Amino acid sequence: MIEQRKEEHIRIAEHEAVTSDHNYWDDVRLIHHALPEIDFSSLDTGINFLSKRLKSPLIISSMTGGTQLAKNINRNLASAAEKAGVAMGVGSMRAAIEKPELADTFSVINEFRIPLKIANIGAPQLIDQEKKAFTDAQIERAVTMIEADAIYIHLNFLQEMVQPEGDRNARGILKRISEIASSYTVIVKETGNGLSREVAEDLKDAGVKALDVGGLGGTSFSAIEYYRAKKAGDMEKMNSGSTFWNWGIPSPASVKYCQVGLPVIGSGGLRNGLDLARAISMGAVAGGFARVLLQSADNSEEEISTRISWILRDLKIAMLLTRSRNIDALASARKIITEPLKSWMDAYEGE
Ligand SMILES: Cc1cc2nc3c(=O)[nH]c(=O)nc-3n(C[C@H](O)[C@H](O)[C@H](O)COP(=O)(O)O)c2cc1C
Repeated sequence: MIEQRKEEHIRIAEHEAVTSDHNYWDDVRLIHHALPEIDFSSLDTGINFLSKRLKSPLIISSMTGGTQLAKNINRNLASAAEKAGVAMGVGSMRAAIEKPELADTFSVINEFRIPLKIANIGAPQLIDQEKKAFTDAQIERAVTMIEADAIYIHLNFLQEMVQPEGDRNARGILKRISEIASSYTVIVKETGNGLSREVAEDLKDAGVKALDVGGLGGTSFSAIEYYRAKKAGDMEKMNSGSTFWNWGIPSPASVKYCQVGLPVIGSGGLRNGLDLARAISMGAVAGGFARVLLQSADNSEEEISTRISWILRDLKIAMLLTRSRNIDALASARKIITEPLKSWMDAYEGE
């Protein structure tokens, strides 16, 4: 059952070691400026993204919905998003599309004034699997459920392969994305394995409005599904989960590969405001945070708001220390790239 799977994902992400072995944001070293000549209180973190004004370049990445536990997490995240004036995505809306009685576990976010709300649908659900693909009417229902400004379509084919009950068909997705992109503001995101230059170009040609790299370095869905397979005694899927634990394109490299003329969200492994500054210095317009927000969002509204305020405070400290008055200046802050990320960047230079 989807609902049970979603709770397992949350509990495993909260309590098990589910990250990849290396966090590549550590390989982006911003160069310290000892004479900032900036008043901390005058720093401007605002950005324009998809015709909306956000107070800070932070996006609460898609995580959940479909259960009472998820409803509470979504409510707390939404309250924090309103307070901070930042964007928020909800988790895959499949559960509520298939069972309308679960709609409130997502639509609870409508109680808050969030500057940019992003619906979420899995790419595998856009084409026929054992179950029929979602229709246009079902997609419209997901968008209206949270009065969304944009839709995330997530790519998660590694997860589908490792998941005991995963979908196996990946044919025809690009065409369907392009149909949906002609009616809605579509952002395509990965979920921990990153986007290459070739994929970014295909998505741009398909009419997608922004890319969210969801790269390697943070949450590994191979790892999460490994733990689920272990619990289910499914040795075959456990084996695949362990084999592909560290599969993917490092998040910072993916941000670079995705510079094809669309706004890019840097995500996958962001832990704090310094990582967010690093993402912006690599060419991202904003950074997406998922797992590091989960436990606080589960605990309370106050705790998640505080957590986000700390991330934004550290972003501002990084801005001051790189003499970056605003986000545009931070985008060109001086930095060096160390190994192992450097080799990934060199591969791109050589393309
Ligand atoms: C518990 C959990 C549930 C998630 N569910 C979804 C989902 O439903 N849809 C989606 O697009 N991404 C989902 N993700 C992926 C995140 O949005 C993000 O791309 C990924 O976790 C990498 O970011 P992180 O390293 O900051 O966790 C989920 C992540 C977590 C931790």
